[in-house]
Amino acid sequence: MIKSIRAKLFMFITLLLICFISLLWILNSMYLEKYYINKKKNILTQNANTIVSMYKGNISDIQNELDRTANITGSNIDIRDKNGKIIYMSARRPPEEKNSNNSSQQKPPPDKPHNLDDYDTKAKEYPVGKIHFENRMDVQMKIEFLTLVVKLSNGDVMATRVPLVSIKESVDIANRFVIIIGSIIIFLGSIGAYLFSRKFTKPILEVNNIARNMAKFDFSQKCSISGNDEIGQLGQSVNYLSEELDTAITELNEKNQKLEEDIEKERKIDEMRKEFISSVSHELRTPLSLIQGYAEGLISNVNESEEDRNFYCDVIMQETIKMNKLVRDLLNLSQIESGYFQIDKSEFDIIHLINYVLTKYKSIFTEKNVKVETELFGETCIVYGDMVRIEQVLTNYINNAINHVDENRIIKITSSIDSDKVRVNVFNTGKHIPEDSLKKLWNSFYKVDKARTRAYGGYGLGLSIVKAIQDLHKSAYGVENINHGVNFWFEINKVKDINNNN
Ligand SMILES: Nc1ncnc2c1ncn2[C@@H]1O[C@H](COP(=O)(O)OP(=O)(O)OP(=O)(O)O)[C@@H](O)[C@H]1O
Ligand SMILES: [Mg+2]
Repeated sequence: MIKSIRAKLFMFITLLLICFISLLWILNSMYLEKYYINKKKNILTQNANTIVSMYKGNISDIQNELDRTANITGSNIDIRDKNGKIIYMSARRPPEEKNSNNSSQQKPPPDKPHNLDDYDTKAKEYPVGKIHFENRMDVQMKIEFLTLVVKLSNGDVMATRVPLVSIKESVDIANRFVIIIGSIIIFLGSIGAYLFSRKFTKPILEVNNIARNMAKFDFSQKCSISGNDEIGQLGQSVNYLSEELDTAITELNEKNQKLEEDIEKERKIDEMRKEFISSVSHELRTPLSLIQGYAEGLISNVNESEEDRNFYCDVIMQETIKMNKLVRDLLNLSQIESGYFQIDKSEFDIIHLINYVLTKYKSIFTEKNVKVETELFGETCIVYGDMVRIEQVLTNYINNAINHVDENRIIKITSSIDSDKVRVNVFNTGKHIPEDSLKKLWNSFYKVDKARTRAYGGYGLGLSIVKAIQDLHKSAYGVENINHGVNFWFEINKVKDINNNN
Protein backbone atom coordinates (compact mmCIF):
# COMPACT_ATOMS: atom_id res chain seq x y z
CA MET A 1 0.00 0.00 0.00
CA ILE A 2 1.39 3.36 -1.00
CA LYS A 3 0.57 5.82 1.70
CA SER A 4 2.77 8.85 1.27
CA ILE A 5 1.41 11.74 -0.72
CA ARG A 6 4.81 11.99 -2.41
CA ALA A 7 4.54 8.44 -3.82
CA LYS A 8 0.91 9.04 -4.84
CA LEU A 9 1.80 12.20 -6.71
CA PHE A 10 4.73 10.52 -8.43
CA MET A 11 2.61 7.52 -9.45
CA PHE A 12 -0.23 9.72 -10.64
CA ILE A 13 1.94 11.90 -12.90
CA THR A 14 3.82 8.91 -14.30
CA LEU A 15 0.59 6.99 -15.01
CA LEU A 16 -0.89 10.06 -16.67
CA LEU A 17 2.14 10.29 -18.95
CA ILE A 18 1.96 6.57 -19.81
CA CYS A 19 -1.77 6.94 -20.60
CA PHE A 20 -1.16 9.93 -22.87
CA ILE A 21 1.68 8.28 -24.75
CA SER A 22 -0.29 5.02 -25.12
CA LEU A 23 -3.30 6.90 -26.40
CA LEU A 24 -1.11 8.74 -28.88
CA TRP A 25 0.36 5.45 -30.09
CA ILE A 26 -3.06 3.79 -30.44
CA LEU A 27 -4.48 6.74 -32.34
CA ASN A 28 -1.42 6.78 -34.59
CA SER A 29 -1.68 3.07 -35.32
CA MET A 30 -5.38 3.33 -36.09
CA TYR A 31 -5.67 6.53 -38.04
CA LEU A 32 -2.26 7.76 -39.19
CA GLU A 33 -2.26 5.52 -42.31
CA LYS A 34 -5.72 6.67 -43.37
CA TYR A 35 -4.81 10.25 -42.70
CA TYR A 36 -1.57 9.88 -44.65
CA ILE A 37 -3.33 8.28 -47.67
CA ASN A 38 -5.92 11.01 -47.57
CA LYS A 39 -3.27 13.69 -47.66
CA LYS A 40 -1.43 11.90 -50.45
CA LYS A 41 -4.64 11.74 -52.45
CA ASN A 42 -5.11 15.48 -52.05
CA ILE A 43 -1.59 16.17 -53.29
CA LEU A 44 -1.97 13.82 -56.25
CA THR A 45 -5.34 15.36 -57.12
CA GLN A 46 -3.87 18.88 -57.11
CA ASN A 47 -1.03 17.84 -59.39
CA ALA A 48 -3.32 15.91 -61.69
CA ASN A 49 -5.62 18.92 -62.03
CA THR A 50 -2.67 21.09 -63.01
CA ILE A 51 -1.65 18.63 -65.71
CA VAL A 52 -5.23 18.25 -66.95
CA SER A 53 -5.47 21.99 -67.36
CA MET A 54 -2.09 22.23 -69.12
CA TYR A 55 -2.40 19.25 -71.53
CA LYS A 56 -3.58 20.08 -74.99
CA GLY A 57 -2.56 16.86 -76.73
CA ASN A 58 1.14 17.54 -77.08
CA ILE A 59 3.29 15.71 -74.55
CA SER A 60 6.35 17.89 -75.09
CA ASP A 61 4.38 20.89 -73.69
CA ILE A 62 4.03 19.26 -70.32
CA GLN A 63 7.09 17.01 -70.28
CA ASN A 64 8.86 19.13 -67.64
CA GLU A 65 5.80 19.49 -65.47
CA LEU A 66 5.23 15.73 -65.59
CA ASP A 67 8.86 14.98 -64.58
CA ARG A 68 8.68 17.50 -61.77
CA THR A 69 5.42 16.09 -60.45
CA ALA A 70 6.74 12.54 -60.55
CA ASN A 71 9.81 13.52 -58.54
CA ILE A 72 8.01 15.68 -56.00
CA THR A 73 5.28 13.18 -55.21
CA GLY A 74 7.53 10.13 -55.45
CA SER A 75 5.17 8.61 -57.99
CA ASN A 76 5.52 7.30 -61.49
CA ILE A 77 3.32 8.69 -64.21
CA ASP A 78 2.38 7.33 -67.59
CA ILE A 79 0.06 8.58 -70.30
CA ARG A 80 -1.47 6.30 -72.93
CA ASP A 81 -3.29 7.30 -76.00
CA LYS A 82 -6.68 6.05 -77.00
CA ASN A 83 -5.14 2.80 -78.26
CA GLY A 84 -3.36 2.04 -75.00
CA LYS A 85 0.05 2.95 -76.37
CA ILE A 86 2.34 4.66 -73.90
CA ILE A 87 3.12 8.15 -75.05
CA TYR A 88 4.76 9.35 -71.81
CA MET A 89 6.41 7.47 -69.01
CA SER A 90 8.19 8.95 -65.96
CA ALA A 91 11.72 7.78 -65.05
CA ARG A 92 10.58 4.69 -63.23
CA ARG A 93 9.57 1.46 -64.86
CA PRO A 94 5.83 1.21 -65.35
CA PRO A 95 4.44 -1.62 -63.28
CA GLU A 96 2.71 -4.70 -64.61
CA GLU A 97 -0.52 -4.14 -62.90
CA LYS A 98 -4.08 -5.21 -62.55
CA ASN A 99 -6.98 -4.01 -60.44
CA SER A 100 -6.32 -5.34 -56.97
CA ASN A 101 -10.01 -5.22 -56.08
CA ASN A 102 -10.74 -8.16 -58.35
CA SER A 103 -7.31 -9.68 -58.64
CA SER A 104 -8.56 -13.27 -58.38
CA GLN A 105 -10.66 -12.98 -61.49
CA GLN A 106 -8.26 -11.07 -63.68
CA LYS A 107 -4.87 -12.62 -63.46
CA PRO A 108 -2.81 -11.45 -66.46
CA PRO A 109 -1.02 -14.12 -68.47
CA PRO A 110 2.75 -14.15 -67.80
CA ASP A 111 3.59 -13.64 -71.49
CA LYS A 112 1.67 -10.41 -71.64
CA PRO A 113 3.45 -8.02 -69.29
CA HIS A 114 1.58 -4.86 -70.20
CA ASN A 115 -1.90 -6.16 -69.92
CA LEU A 116 -3.72 -2.94 -69.23
CA ASP A 117 -6.75 -3.43 -71.32
CA ASP A 118 -9.20 -3.59 -68.49
CA TYR A 119 -8.03 -0.26 -67.06
CA ASP A 120 -7.95 1.43 -70.40
CA THR A 121 -11.37 0.22 -71.32
CA LYS A 122 -12.69 1.46 -68.00
CA ALA A 123 -10.82 4.76 -68.11
CA LYS A 124 -12.09 5.51 -71.58
CA GLU A 125 -15.55 5.64 -70.12
CA TYR A 126 -14.60 8.27 -67.51
CA PRO A 127 -15.60 11.89 -68.06
CA VAL A 128 -12.69 14.16 -68.94
CA GLY A 129 -10.85 15.64 -65.93
CA LYS A 130 -12.66 13.46 -63.38
CA ILE A 131 -10.19 12.03 -60.86
CA HIS A 132 -10.45 8.34 -59.97
CA PHE A 133 -8.49 6.53 -57.28
CA GLU A 134 -7.91 2.80 -57.46
CA ASN A 135 -5.68 0.29 -55.74
CA ARG A 136 -3.65 -1.54 -58.39
CA MET A 137 -1.25 -4.44 -58.01
CA ASP A 138 2.04 -4.98 -59.80
CA VAL A 139 1.83 -8.65 -60.54
CA GLN A 140 5.53 -9.14 -61.00
CA MET A 141 6.83 -7.13 -58.05
CA LYS A 142 3.78 -7.93 -55.96
CA ILE A 143 3.43 -4.33 -54.86
CA GLU A 144 0.16 -2.56 -54.37
CA PHE A 145 -0.17 0.97 -55.65
CA LEU A 146 -2.46 3.84 -54.91
CA THR A 147 -3.30 4.91 -58.43
CA LEU A 148 -4.88 8.09 -59.70
CA VAL A 149 -6.50 7.75 -63.11
CA VAL A 150 -7.78 10.67 -65.10
CA LYS A 151 -8.94 11.09 -68.68
CA LEU A 152 -7.22 14.01 -70.35
CA SER A 153 -8.87 16.44 -72.74
CA ASN A 154 -7.97 14.62 -75.95
CA GLY A 155 -9.06 11.23 -74.57
CA ASP A 156 -5.57 10.12 -73.46
CA VAL A 157 -5.43 8.52 -70.01
CA MET A 158 -2.95 9.53 -67.34
CA ALA A 159 -2.16 7.21 -64.41
CA THR A 160 -0.12 8.36 -61.39
CA ARG A 161 1.01 5.65 -58.96
CA VAL A 162 2.40 5.74 -55.46
CA PRO A 163 3.39 2.43 -53.86
CA LEU A 164 1.19 1.83 -50.83
CA VAL A 165 3.99 0.00 -49.09
CA SER A 166 6.00 3.23 -48.80
CA ILE A 167 3.04 4.89 -47.09
CA LYS A 168 2.75 1.98 -44.65
CA GLU A 169 6.49 2.17 -43.99
CA SER A 170 6.29 5.88 -43.24
CA VAL A 171 3.41 5.24 -40.84
CA ASP A 172 5.40 2.46 -39.19
CA ILE A 173 8.40 4.73 -38.80
CA ALA A 174 6.19 7.45 -37.33
CA ASN A 175 4.71 4.95 -34.89
CA ARG A 176 8.12 3.65 -33.86
CA PHE A 177 9.24 7.23 -33.42
CA VAL A 178 6.25 7.85 -31.16
CA ILE A 179 7.23 4.82 -29.07
CA ILE A 180 10.84 5.97 -28.71
CA ILE A 181 9.95 9.58 -27.99
CA GLY A 182 7.14 8.42 -25.69
CA SER A 183 9.55 6.23 -23.68
CA ILE A 184 11.97 9.11 -23.36
CA ILE A 185 9.13 11.43 -22.31
CA ILE A 186 7.92 8.87 -19.74
CA PHE A 187 11.45 8.40 -18.40
CA LEU A 188 12.22 12.12 -18.17
CA GLY A 189 8.66 12.83 -17.02
CA SER A 190 8.91 10.35 -14.16
CA ILE A 191 12.21 11.93 -13.05
CA GLY A 192 10.47 15.32 -13.25
CA ALA A 193 7.47 13.90 -11.36
CA TYR A 194 9.77 12.53 -8.66
CA LEU A 195 11.54 15.87 -8.24
CA PHE A 196 8.27 17.79 -8.35
CA SER A 197 6.56 15.53 -5.81
CA ARG A 198 9.60 15.90 -3.53
CA LYS A 199 9.53 19.66 -3.86
CA PHE A 200 5.77 19.69 -3.41
CA THR A 201 5.68 17.48 -0.32
CA LYS A 202 8.80 18.86 1.40
CA PRO A 203 6.98 21.87 2.93
CA ILE A 204 4.07 19.64 3.94
CA LEU A 205 6.46 17.30 5.74
CA GLU A 206 8.09 20.32 7.40
CA VAL A 207 4.71 21.59 8.62
CA ASN A 208 3.91 18.10 9.85
CA ASN A 209 7.18 17.92 11.76
CA ILE A 210 6.58 21.31 13.37
CA ALA A 211 3.03 20.34 14.32
CA ARG A 212 4.36 17.19 15.99
CA ASN A 213 6.87 19.27 18.00
CA MET A 214 4.09 21.70 18.91
CA ALA A 215 2.12 18.77 20.32
CA LYS A 216 5.09 18.18 22.63
CA PHE A 217 5.05 21.89 23.64
CA ASP A 218 8.21 22.59 21.68
CA PHE A 219 7.66 25.88 19.85
CA SER A 220 11.30 26.56 19.00
CA GLN A 221 11.05 25.44 15.35
CA LYS A 222 9.69 27.81 12.74
CA CYS A 223 8.38 27.11 9.23
CA SER A 224 10.84 28.26 6.55
CA ILE A 225 8.35 27.96 3.66
CA SER A 226 8.33 31.00 1.45
CA GLY A 227 5.87 32.05 -1.21
CA ASN A 228 2.30 33.25 -1.26
CA ASP A 229 0.58 30.10 -2.43
CA GLU A 230 -1.64 27.92 -0.23
CA ILE A 231 1.32 26.02 1.26
CA GLY A 232 3.19 29.27 1.94
CA GLN A 233 0.10 30.57 3.71
CA LEU A 234 -0.18 27.31 5.65
CA GLY A 235 3.43 27.79 6.81
CA GLN A 236 2.68 31.33 7.93
CA SER A 237 -0.45 30.19 9.76
CA VAL A 238 1.51 27.44 11.52
CA ASN A 239 4.15 29.97 12.59
CA TYR A 240 1.46 32.31 13.88
CA LEU A 241 -0.28 29.45 15.70
CA SER A 242 3.03 28.38 17.22
CA GLU A 243 3.80 31.90 18.48
CA GLU A 244 0.32 32.37 19.91
CA LEU A 245 0.38 28.98 21.60
CA ASP A 246 3.84 29.66 22.95
CA THR A 247 2.77 32.94 24.56
CA ALA A 248 -0.50 31.47 25.81
CA ILE A 249 1.15 28.42 27.34
CA THR A 250 4.02 30.44 28.83
CA GLU A 251 1.47 32.81 30.33
CA LEU A 252 -0.59 29.91 31.58
CA ASN A 253 2.49 28.29 33.12
CA GLU A 254 3.48 31.52 34.83
CA LYS A 255 -0.02 31.97 36.21
CA ASN A 256 -0.11 28.38 37.29
CA GLN A 257 3.22 28.74 39.04
CA LYS A 258 2.05 31.93 40.73
CA LEU A 259 -1.13 30.16 41.80
CA GLU A 260 0.87 27.29 43.22
CA GLU A 261 3.10 29.74 45.07
CA ASP A 262 0.05 31.56 46.41
CA ILE A 263 -1.52 28.31 47.56
CA GLU A 264 1.75 27.30 49.23
CA LYS A 265 2.00 30.75 50.88
CA GLU A 266 -1.59 30.48 52.03
CA ARG A 267 -0.93 27.03 53.43
CA LYS A 268 2.14 28.27 55.29
CA ILE A 269 0.25 31.26 56.69
CA ASP A 270 -2.50 28.94 57.86
CA GLU A 271 0.05 26.64 59.44
CA MET A 272 1.76 29.61 61.12
CA ARG A 273 -1.57 30.88 62.41
CA LYS A 274 -2.37 27.52 63.96
CA GLU A 275 1.11 27.26 65.44
CA PHE A 276 0.84 30.81 66.73
CA ILE A 277 -2.49 30.18 68.46
CA SER A 278 -1.25 26.96 70.01
CA SER A 279 1.97 28.72 71.17
CA VAL A 280 0.03 31.62 72.67
CA SER A 281 -2.34 29.29 74.49
CA HIS A 282 0.58 27.23 75.69
CA GLU A 283 2.44 30.30 76.99
CA LEU A 284 -0.69 31.60 78.73
CA ARG A 285 -1.60 28.30 80.31
CA THR A 286 1.40 28.13 82.68
CA PRO A 287 1.03 31.60 84.29
CA LEU A 288 -2.76 31.28 84.37
CA SER A 289 -2.72 27.94 86.11
CA LEU A 290 -0.07 29.25 88.53
CA ILE A 291 -2.21 32.33 89.26
CA GLN A 292 -5.29 30.15 89.66
CA GLY A 293 -3.45 27.73 91.96
CA TYR A 294 -1.96 30.42 94.18
CA ALA A 295 -5.25 32.38 94.30
CA GLU A 296 -7.06 29.22 95.42
CA GLY A 297 -4.25 28.64 97.92
CA LEU A 298 -4.77 32.14 99.28
CA ILE A 299 -8.49 31.55 99.67
CA SER A 300 -8.16 28.20 101.39
CA ASN A 301 -5.20 29.17 103.62
CA VAL A 302 -6.34 32.56 104.76
CA ASN A 303 -5.25 31.80 108.22
CA GLU A 304 -1.68 30.97 107.39
CA SER A 305 1.22 33.26 108.15
CA GLU A 306 1.66 36.69 106.72
CA GLU A 307 4.88 35.54 105.12
CA ASP A 308 3.12 32.74 103.20
CA ARG A 309 0.38 35.01 102.00
CA ASN A 310 2.98 37.49 100.81
CA PHE A 311 4.75 34.72 98.92
CA TYR A 312 1.46 33.66 97.26
CA CYS A 313 0.73 37.23 96.29
CA ASP A 314 4.28 37.63 95.02
CA VAL A 315 3.94 34.63 92.70
CA ILE A 316 0.61 35.88 91.39
CA MET A 317 2.22 39.26 90.83
CA GLN A 318 5.25 37.81 88.99
CA GLU A 319 3.07 35.67 86.74
CA THR A 320 0.79 38.60 85.97
CA ILE A 321 3.83 40.69 85.01
CA LYS A 322 5.01 37.89 82.72
CA MET A 323 1.56 37.59 81.17
CA ASN A 324 1.43 41.30 80.76
CA LYS A 325 4.78 41.25 78.94
CA LEU A 326 3.58 38.43 76.72
CA VAL A 327 0.37 40.22 75.81
CA ARG A 328 2.28 43.46 75.25
CA ASP A 329 4.83 41.76 73.00
CA LEU A 330 2.09 39.94 71.09
CA LEU A 331 0.16 43.16 70.55
CA ASN A 332 3.36 44.87 69.50
CA LEU A 333 4.19 42.13 67.04
CA SER A 334 0.72 41.86 65.55
CA GLN A 335 0.60 45.62 65.24
CA ILE A 336 3.91 45.78 63.35
CA GLU A 337 3.07 42.77 61.20
CA SER A 338 -0.50 43.93 60.47
CA GLY A 339 0.52 45.76 57.30
CA TYR A 340 -1.20 48.93 58.48
CA PHE A 341 1.58 49.93 60.84
CA GLN A 342 3.45 53.03 59.73
CA ILE A 343 6.98 53.53 60.96
CA ASP A 344 7.76 57.05 61.95
CA LYS A 345 11.03 57.79 60.18
CA SER A 346 13.28 60.65 61.13
CA GLU A 347 16.96 61.51 61.22
CA PHE A 348 18.72 60.67 64.46
CA ASP A 349 22.16 59.94 65.80
CA ILE A 350 22.65 56.18 66.14
CA ILE A 351 25.81 56.56 68.29
CA HIS A 352 23.87 58.70 70.68
CA LEU A 353 21.07 56.12 70.78
CA ILE A 354 23.52 53.28 71.51
CA ASN A 355 25.15 55.25 74.33
CA TYR A 356 21.73 56.18 75.72
CA VAL A 357 20.60 52.54 75.81
CA LEU A 358 23.92 51.45 77.36
CA THR A 359 23.47 54.07 80.10
CA LYS A 360 19.98 52.73 80.81
CA TYR A 361 21.38 49.20 81.10
CA LYS A 362 24.39 50.21 83.19
CA SER A 363 22.92 49.05 86.50
CA ILE A 364 21.75 45.76 85.00
CA PHE A 365 25.20 45.09 83.56
CA THR A 366 26.72 45.77 86.96
CA GLU A 367 24.12 43.60 88.65
CA LYS A 368 24.72 40.72 86.22
CA ASN A 369 28.46 41.28 86.41
CA VAL A 370 28.75 41.79 82.66
CA LYS A 371 31.67 43.60 81.07
CA VAL A 372 30.51 45.78 78.19
CA GLU A 373 32.95 46.77 75.47
CA THR A 374 32.13 49.24 72.72
CA GLU A 375 33.87 49.95 69.46
CA LEU A 376 31.96 52.71 67.71
CA PHE A 377 33.34 54.59 64.70
CA GLY A 378 32.85 58.09 66.00
CA GLU A 379 30.91 60.37 68.20
CA THR A 380 27.96 60.93 65.90
CA CYS A 381 26.44 59.23 62.89
CA ILE A 382 23.12 60.42 61.53
CA VAL A 383 20.83 57.70 60.24
CA TYR A 384 17.29 57.69 58.92
CA GLY A 385 14.65 55.47 60.54
CA ASP A 386 12.08 55.03 63.31
CA MET A 387 14.18 55.76 66.39
CA VAL A 388 11.76 54.17 68.88
CA ARG A 389 11.67 50.93 66.88
CA ILE A 390 15.43 50.87 66.34
CA GLU A 391 15.84 51.26 70.11
CA GLN A 392 13.53 48.26 70.47
CA VAL A 393 15.76 46.24 68.11
CA LEU A 394 18.83 47.22 70.08
CA THR A 395 17.29 46.44 73.48
CA ASN A 396 16.01 43.08 72.24
CA TYR A 397 19.54 42.16 71.12
CA ILE A 398 21.05 43.45 74.41
CA ASN A 399 18.43 41.58 76.51
CA ASN A 400 19.20 38.39 74.64
CA ALA A 401 22.95 38.96 75.04
CA ILE A 402 22.51 39.42 78.78
CA ASN A 403 20.35 36.28 79.00
CA HIS A 404 22.79 34.13 76.98
CA VAL A 405 26.23 35.47 77.95
CA ASP A 406 28.51 32.74 79.38
CA GLU A 407 30.92 32.79 82.31
CA ASN A 408 33.33 35.09 80.40
CA ARG A 409 30.55 37.68 80.71
CA ILE A 410 31.60 39.92 77.86
CA ILE A 411 29.18 41.86 75.69
CA LYS A 412 30.64 43.86 72.84
CA ILE A 413 28.78 46.52 70.89
CA THR A 414 30.42 47.62 67.69
CA SER A 415 29.39 49.53 64.63
CA SER A 416 30.76 49.71 61.14
CA ILE A 417 30.01 52.10 58.34
CA ASP A 418 29.37 51.49 54.68
CA SER A 419 28.80 54.01 51.87
CA ASP A 420 25.08 54.29 52.65
CA LYS A 421 24.50 51.98 55.62
CA VAL A 422 25.51 51.62 59.24
CA ARG A 423 25.81 48.16 60.74
CA VAL A 424 25.43 47.65 64.49
CA ASN A 425 26.69 44.39 66.08
CA VAL A 426 25.76 43.04 69.51
CA PHE A 427 28.17 40.26 70.48
CA ASN A 428 28.16 38.15 73.59
CA THR A 429 30.53 35.39 74.61
CA GLY A 430 28.69 32.11 74.79
CA LYS A 431 27.66 28.84 73.19
CA HIS A 432 27.19 28.79 69.43
CA ILE A 433 23.67 28.50 68.13
CA PRO A 434 23.19 25.28 66.10
CA GLU A 435 23.35 25.99 62.35
CA ASP A 436 19.87 24.64 61.63
CA SER A 437 18.38 26.96 64.27
CA LEU A 438 19.96 30.15 62.89
CA LYS A 439 17.12 30.80 60.45
CA LYS A 440 14.32 29.68 62.73
CA LEU A 441 15.30 32.14 65.50
CA TRP A 442 13.34 34.83 63.71
CA ASN A 443 10.05 32.89 63.92
CA SER A 444 7.77 33.79 66.81
CA PHE A 445 7.89 31.48 69.81
CA TYR A 446 11.03 29.76 68.55
CA LYS A 447 13.48 28.93 71.31
CA VAL A 448 16.73 27.03 70.94
CA ASP A 449 17.21 26.02 74.55
CA LYS A 450 13.73 25.88 76.08
CA ALA A 451 14.92 25.28 79.68
CA ARG A 452 17.25 28.24 79.62
CA THR A 453 14.62 30.46 77.99
CA ARG A 454 12.08 29.47 80.61
CA ALA A 455 14.60 30.38 83.31
CA TYR A 456 14.67 34.03 82.26
CA GLY A 457 10.99 34.08 81.28
CA GLY A 458 11.41 34.47 77.51
CA TYR A 459 8.65 33.76 75.07
CA GLY A 460 10.64 33.66 71.84
CA LEU A 461 9.03 36.85 70.52
CA GLY A 462 11.91 39.35 70.77
CA LEU A 463 13.67 38.37 67.52
CA SER A 464 10.41 38.13 65.53
CA ILE A 465 9.75 41.73 66.56
CA VAL A 466 13.28 42.64 65.37
CA LYS A 467 12.57 40.91 62.04
CA ALA A 468 9.25 42.75 61.61
CA ILE A 469 10.83 46.14 62.38
CA GLN A 470 13.79 45.56 60.04
CA ASP A 471 11.46 44.34 57.28
CA LEU A 472 9.46 47.56 57.62
CA HIS A 473 12.70 49.53 57.28
CA LYS A 474 13.68 47.29 54.33
CA SER A 475 17.02 46.83 56.05
CA ALA A 476 19.08 43.72 56.67
CA TYR A 477 19.59 41.86 59.94
CA GLY A 478 21.16 38.57 60.97
CA VAL A 479 23.12 36.40 63.32
CA GLU A 480 26.44 34.61 63.06
CA ASN A 481 28.44 32.28 65.25
CA ILE A 482 31.90 33.79 65.62
CA ASN A 483 34.93 33.12 67.83
CA HIS A 484 33.85 32.44 71.42
CA GLY A 485 30.30 33.67 70.97
CA VAL A 486 27.34 34.85 69.00
CA ASN A 487 26.97 38.07 67.04
CA PHE A 488 23.56 39.60 66.23
CA TRP A 489 23.52 42.55 63.82
CA PHE A 490 21.20 44.96 62.06
CA GLU A 491 21.62 47.66 59.46
CA ILE A 492 20.10 51.12 59.10
CA ASN A 493 20.24 53.61 56.25
CA LYS A 494 22.71 56.42 56.70
CA VAL A 495 21.88 60.01 55.82
CA LYS A 496 24.11 60.92 52.90
CA ASP A 497 25.72 63.99 54.38
CA ILE A 498 29.53 63.88 54.46
CA ASN A 499 29.63 66.34 57.38
CA ASN A 500 27.65 63.95 59.51
CA ASN A 501 29.61 60.84 58.63
CA ASN A 502 32.72 61.51 60.71
N1 LIG B 1 22.57 35.98 72.18
C1 LIG B 1 22.05 34.78 72.08
N2 LIG B 1 22.83 33.68 72.30
C2 LIG B 1 22.30 32.43 72.17
N3 LIG B 1 21.02 32.19 71.84
C3 LIG B 1 20.20 33.24 71.62
C4 LIG B 1 20.67 34.57 71.72
N4 LIG B 1 19.64 35.40 71.43
C5 LIG B 1 18.59 34.61 71.19
N5 LIG B 1 18.90 33.32 71.32
C6 LIG B 1 18.00 32.17 71.07
O1 LIG B 1 16.98 32.61 70.27
C7 LIG B 1 15.74 32.38 70.85
C8 LIG B 1 14.76 33.44 70.42
O2 LIG B 1 15.13 34.70 70.96
P1 LIG B 1 14.03 35.78 71.23
O3 LIG B 1 14.65 37.02 71.60
O4 LIG B 1 13.14 35.80 70.02
O5 LIG B 1 13.18 35.17 72.36
P2 LIG B 1 13.51 35.11 73.90
O6 LIG B 1 14.64 35.96 74.17
O7 LIG B 1 13.62 33.69 74.24
O8 LIG B 1 12.19 35.68 74.50
P3 LIG B 1 11.68 37.16 74.45
O9 LIG B 1 12.67 37.93 73.67
O10 LIG B 1 10.36 37.07 73.81
O11 LIG B 1 11.61 37.59 75.87
C9 LIG B 1 16.01 32.35 72.31
O12 LIG B 1 15.05 31.57 72.97
C10 LIG B 1 17.37 31.73 72.35
O13 LIG B 1 17.25 30.33 72.35
MG1 LIG C 1 14.68 38.02 73.51
